[in-house]
Amino acid sequence: SLYADSEEASAAVAAEIAALIRTRAAENETCVLGLATGSSPTRVYEELVRLHREEGLSFQNVVSFNLDEYFPMAPDSLQSYVRFMREYLFDHVDIRPENVHVPDGTVPPEQVAAYCLDYEAQIRAEGGIDLQLLGIGRTGHIGFNEPGSGPASRTRLITLDHVTRTDAASDFYGEENVPRRALTMGVGTILEARKVVLLAWGEGKAAVVKRMVEGDVTDTVPATYLQRHPAVQVVLDEAAGAEL
Ligand code: GLP
Repeated sequence: SLYADSEEASAAVAAEIAALIRTRAAENETCVLGLATGSSPTRVYEELVRLHREEGLSFQNVVSFNLDEYFPMAPDSLQSYVRFMREYLFDHVDIRPENVHVPDGTVPPEQVAAYCLDYEAQIRAEGGIDLQLLGIGRTGHIGFNEPGSGPASRTRLITLDHVTRTDAASDFYGEENVPRRALTMGVGTILEARKVVLLAWGEGKAAVVKRMVEGDVTDTVPATYLQRHPAVQVVLDEAAGAEL
């Protein structure tokens, strides 16, 4: 879907998520959301908070799994995705703390493999992800699945691409402070979500959006694997869609 601007687009996505939460609540079912960080989803979260405050949208039946986290990363650090999610969403709605899952950047290295298997098991135990929200990195990454990530990849510890660390430099007051690694759900994990909604705003994303939508499916642009997903919605503003 192409929108004039990201504000209008974000409101539409938030309305879709709210409708899903309410439908599942009416069925006495949980709604399992896969959530993303970065600048792309912030307005969606702001709109969900508004719907909670002004229209009584409840998150009591919502279970969330975030895509990724830097490694290592303390949850209270400025750049932590735990902190990001609290600031934009979790602290402002009635989601149950025990239903929130963000990959833990403090797991000892020797326990990471077991931790990642457990993260996948928890997603399965909740019945899988109903709706996965995604941004896209300039490298074509989804989550932190950098070039080289294949369609069967699962939750794991990865090494960040140089371009990604450059893009994150301002958040960390210098590229040398950006962690070299991150935990991320795999491409395979993402492809199992029943619905995927990818957001991209601005001219800086136009080239990678074109490669994702029109390019050959390849692990050099992991987002191209979304072409194989039966229910993916790519939500763009005019600038991000300019090269299509
Ligand atoms: C980070 C996140 C990704 C996100 C990407 C794009 O690398 N780990 O999940 O999609 O940034 O960020 P932005 O939305 O700020 O452009």
